[in-house]
Amino acid sequence: MNSYSKKAIEHFKNPKNFGKMKSPDGIGKVGNIVCGDVMWLYIKVKKDIITDIKFQTYGCLAAIASSSAITEMVKGKTIKQALNLNRQKIVDNLGGLPAVKIHCSVLAVDALLEAIYDYLLKNKLPVPADLIRKHKQIEKEKKSIEKRYKNWTDLEEKLSH
Ligand code: FES
Repeated sequence: MNSYSKKAIEHFKNPKNFGKMKSPDGIGKVGNIVCGDVMWLYIKVKKDIITDIKFQTYGCLAAIASSSAITEMVKGKTIKQALNLNRQKIVDNLGGLPAVKIHCSVLAVDALLEAIYDYLLKNKLPVPADLIRKHKQIEKEKKSIEKRYKNWTDLEEKLSH
């Protein structure tokens, strides 16, 4: 696929659940190793259900469309169901993405995983081994992004507050 689907463009033009959340139960902040783009994802959880979700993304059309789509896919789902989401499911939900933009959809998945990790940790709930592994990998990438794109990440941090 070499162009954007109508659905991806629609999500970009009218992103769902965009913005900062007051007192979230979990926050995920991630960066894209390829381009340095950054995303924040916030979740509210009640009785194991993700009742609300919001995002802020400084990124391209594909990153914003993926973020918007993931919020719709995850709202009302259990933590376990949300952990089953992957890049391919988002790309399919968007009706495809241009091949060079597939990496952008990773941002949304990683941000969701980090928000869930943060929620489980804060609430002293068991964290699945796979999620711990993924968190360590994301942390490593974040450090290398901060080194590579320091000026951008500082600016984005400032703009988001
Ligand atoms: S080019 Fe950076 S997330 Fe798409």
